[in-house]
Amino acid sequence: MGQLTEYIQNQIWLLEYPVRFGGMNLFGRMTIIRIKTGDLVIHDPCKIEREVKNEINAIGKVKYIIAPGSYHHLFVTDFQKEYPDAETFLCPGLERKRPDIEFDWILGNKPDHRWKNDLEQVLVHGTKYIWEVAFFHKPSRTLLLVDLLENIGDNYQHPAGVLLRFWWKVIFRMWNNPKAAPEYQMGWGNKDIVRKGLNKILSWKADRVILAHGELIEDDVDSVLNTAWRKVLGI
Ligand SMILES: [Fe+2]
Repeated sequence: MGQLTEYIQNQIWLLEYPVRFGGMNLFGRMTIIRIKTGDLVIHDPCKIEREVKNEINAIGKVKYIIAPGSYHHLFVTDFQKEYPDAETFLCPGLERKRPDIEFDWILGNKPDHRWKNDLEQVLVHGTKYIWEVAFFHKPSRTLLLVDLLENIGDNYQHPAGVLLRFWWKVIFRMWNNPKAAPEYQMGWGNKDIVRKGLNKILSWKADRVILAHGELIEDDVDSVLNTAWRKVLGI
């Protein structure tokens, strides 16, 4: 696995990691945020290996482990083993889906008091299959999503298999066309509730988006988000 990339100087580091989902080989993306206290927030953890652990330890102390979405919990326990003093925060619903994961907190709409100077957050209730807590890193105006926006197309840095291309191009029409994950496209649940969450995200006016699957969004964020979510936003 690769090394951390320093994305926002002294504040945010990224690492893509391979995952297999629905027969497709994809990549997820871990984000590490150093908050103003110097402590580290691990958002969407990857499988941890020695080299990566050394890099993380050189940056700061791992205090918080976040599983931000219904499908982004796979490697939480790996991090817990390596950092037993860190506190674990789960997206709502994961406590039932993954009863084996010991956790300290369930994420909600209010940021934890220890990171509230750095991060905003909001829960987006989809159907019972997919929920997500979006974060906004205030100092760098960076939005952190996992499945609410996926951006895979010709610029994808990884080889895209036949199955991935088929689903993205033919079925969900998401190739070169950032959209929410297929699970959202199959149904958003209560749209009024979803819209509340999405509108909160839009109100942050982010300059860039870190997402789990695909290439980062660094231009025209407002327009990309509005286009991706236009059906549920009703615009
Ligand atoms: Fe995902």
